[in-house]
Amino acid sequence: MIADSADSAARSTPSAADRTMRAIAVHPGTAGSIHSRDVPRPAVADVPDGRGVLVRVLRVGVDGTDHEIVQAEYGRPPEGDDFLIIGHENLGEVVEVGPNVAAGVRPGSLVVSTVRRPGHSIYDRIGRQDVTLDDVYYERGINLLHGYLSEWYVEDAAWVVPLAPALSSVGVLLEPTSVAEKGIGQAYAIQRRLPVWRPEHGLVIGAGTIGLLAALILRLRGLEVTVYSRRRAPYLNSDLVDALGATYASSSDRSLADVAHDRGPFDVIFEASGFSPLVWEAAEALGKNGVLVLSSVTGGDRRVEIASDRINEGFVLGNKVMVGTVNASRDDFERGADDLVLAESRFSGWLERLLTTPVSGLDDAAAVLAALEDAATIKAYVEIAAPTSNTASR
Ligand code: BGC
Ligand code: ZN
Repeated sequence: MIADSADSAARSTPSAADRTMRAIAVHPGTAGSIHSRDVPRPAVADVPDGRGVLVRVLRVGVDGTDHEIVQAEYGRPPEGDDFLIIGHENLGEVVEVGPNVAAGVRPGSLVVSTVRRPGHSIYDRIGRQDVTLDDVYYERGINLLHGYLSEWYVEDAAWVVPLAPALSSVGVLLEPTSVAEKGIGQAYAIQRRLPVWRPEHGLVIGAGTIGLLAALILRLRGLEVTVYSRRRAPYLNSDLVDALGATYASSSDRSLADVAHDRGPFDVIFEASGFSPLVWEAAEALGKNGVLVLSSVTGGDRRVEIASDRINEGFVLGNKVMVGTVNASRDDFERGADDLVLAESRFSGWLERLLTTPVSGLDDAAAVLAALEDAATIKAYVEIAAPTSNTASR
């Protein structure tokens, strides 16, 4: 955008308040260092070639990855900084765009930006850094790039995904939805190896945000779904499973083999429990020609004994596949944005019920940690600003 002379004069002598904004950050490597701070405010021209999109942040979700960063188990600051602005699950409203931003994104658009940025491998060069070969990766709010837990951010239009205005409150769930979309999308892509694949029975392990969203997506694809998790029903998460027309089973009552006997054979299993020993039980419970998707990032050093001959033989004689998945591509975000709209019409009000634990504003960093650690939390999120009437259509 070309600034007129009054504008550029104003820009060269901004007041301190104009130049800074509030953010929540950590000192990576120092446990308990989560804090609020003032940081420079971004401008649309920070992104080259007129592709900048300046976004006013509405809501930012936090998850287990943020918790690990706060505990100093994960995360690195951008080069030259000793702090990292956290927050990768973003939702915002566009305030300004550069001259080379396509028409789908305009001031007032509701948007979510992806998390990972290109490194150097051939996949990164085609915008598929979610399957990078690089060892170092760049993720906003996680690794080497500042995140979104601030009043504004600027991003290259290549990574900014527009959303239907009706998603102005639940759109903060798009990033975790994209992670589930990628895993399920990979499963369907892999199953093209079979001359026909008509999945009927799906199993999701883990009833946290990702597990619930994976169950939602599988229901939207027409599968019968079982969700297997530790806690006994009834509680909010099991109620949400019921509300999808899916079935909840607790590992406190039943083995996975038993559940597979009743509810399988499972054509697709999505593992999102965070507890790696369940992977091997899932491998045993998988049906013939089935696909097992692993999405839990397990940083520990746990070892278990497994039924190695039986699992191996089951995979060989049953032509089964196991696949790992992380992060998401722009396409996964776009599919997720469509599925959120579909979810609002098929399971009206369901997404909103995931938003259990709001934190107000960017000044109370301790409250963010408390919300994450609250046992009743499904999704904790920081409320930063309200949408303008432009995007708020409800
Ligand atoms: C994020 C992903 C990211 C992964 C590993 C997850 O919490 O949602 O985008 O790739 O952490 O850093
Ligand atoms: Zn995440």
